[in-house]
Amino acid sequence: MILPSILDLLARRIGLDVHSIGMPSVELALQERMRCCGISDLGSYRELLFAEETEQDELIELVIVPETWFFRDQAPFQFLALNARRQWGEPSLALPLRLLSLPCSTGAEPYSMAMTLFDAGYPAGTFQIDAVDISEKSLRHARAGIYREHDFRGRNLDVLQRHFIENPRGVFEVKPELRQTVNFTRGTLLEFPLPIADSGYHAVFCRNLLIYLNADWRQRGVEALRRMIRPDGILFVGHADATSALNVPFSMAKDASAFAYYPHVPIATQSQPQPAPAIRARSRKSAAAVATAPKPSDSSAPSDLPSQLREIRRVLDGGDAAAALEQCERILHQVRNNAELYSLAGVAHEQLGQGEAAKEAWQKSLYLEPRHLNSLRGLKCLLEKEGDLPGAKNIAARIRRAQSK
Ligand SMILES: C[S@@+](CC[C@H](N)C(=O)[O-])C[C@H]1O[C@@H](n2cnc3c(N)ncnc32)[C@H](O)[C@@H]1O
Repeated sequence: MILPSILDLLARRIGLDVHSIGMPSVELALQERMRCCGISDLGSYRELLFAEETEQDELIELVIVPETWFFRDQAPFQFLALNARRQWGEPSLALPLRLLSLPCSTGAEPYSMAMTLFDAGYPAGTFQIDAVDISEKSLRHARAGIYREHDFRGRNLDVLQRHFIENPRGVFEVKPELRQTVNFTRGTLLEFPLPIADSGYHAVFCRNLLIYLNADWRQRGVEALRRMIRPDGILFVGHADATSALNVPFSMAKDASAFAYYPHVPIATQSQPQPAPAIRARSRKSAAAVATAPKPSDSSAPSDLPSQLREIRRVLDGGDAAAALEQCERILHQVRNNAELYSLAGVAHEQLGQGEAAKEAWQKSLYLEPRHLNSLRGLKCLLEKEGDLPGAKNIAARIRRAQSK
């Protein structure tokens, strides 16, 4: 009962769905904290944890996934640059745009939003960005505004010249005018720390958080997002979040690669939103819809698909299933006819403890390529784990037939 009560605490404090990061990650975090506190048994550590909020914060620092980089996914920032004027009019000092980055991690996202607006012709004072995260350590990094070239993942290096001061040894420091546009605060979606103006935020970036949350937090979190966004505002989620998000009336903008959602039909945009609610829970019902067999003629594969698949395997081998899944989902957006891609998505889902989604992905892979060995093997193991022995036996026979061909 000791471990479940600790998981329960993490669920209450930050909504963590332990399957999203895997139980071994939580166990490692606990071992690390027990070592730091000089405690050798879990029961005593639990007592300390429940008694001291600062210890809870320390544990939270170890279970969060702070991975972020500048202009991550590119498309949302291009979407913001292209649509800001059309959506909210000309830059105005009297009525500045209000934007939110939650979670902001170490600051790459809100600073990228600010650079996007500066470069789109929004002068200082015409927008203000709130940036919120649960991790005080990440927020300290963000406020300091010190980064390395790696934080740019080799992209948009020209922005370094415009918005950063290069210090010796490849260290880049955010220029003061950029730093002043972002206000960093500690909080969560459900314990939102800032006053929200009646009119709400023009744009909210809530990317790569929902995927880590349990169903209850995701539901309440998306409802909270809905309340903080203006009627003509835009919500940006991450690729992986889009499939794990919830049944709240948002509709997706036509440029699907940006994962931009409107809370209702926007006032005037060129990118007209699609009418149907596009953020849906991965419920059994919606999973059935998603499970619609992929059409072999859906799209043509990009020429660099083999190298993208190699990269996904590398990321999976490195143990970062969430990042691998994100990459799979991004490519699946254009390529819906590749059995190997679905197979890798299945592995990533499985590693993230998302059994139903893994099964769905492997079934799609097998629809496209009935003898795909890795998908067959993945499915067999999963069915065995679930106790569906006749199902597993069935798949084992298919594996034997596939191997004998
Ligand atoms: C993968 S990063 C995403 C950062 C950025 N949005 C991006 O997409 O690059 C996830 C962040 O979520 C934060 N986080 C996790 N649970 C949270 C919660 N319940 N409320 C607020 N932030 C949370 C973590 O501290 C971490 O910095």
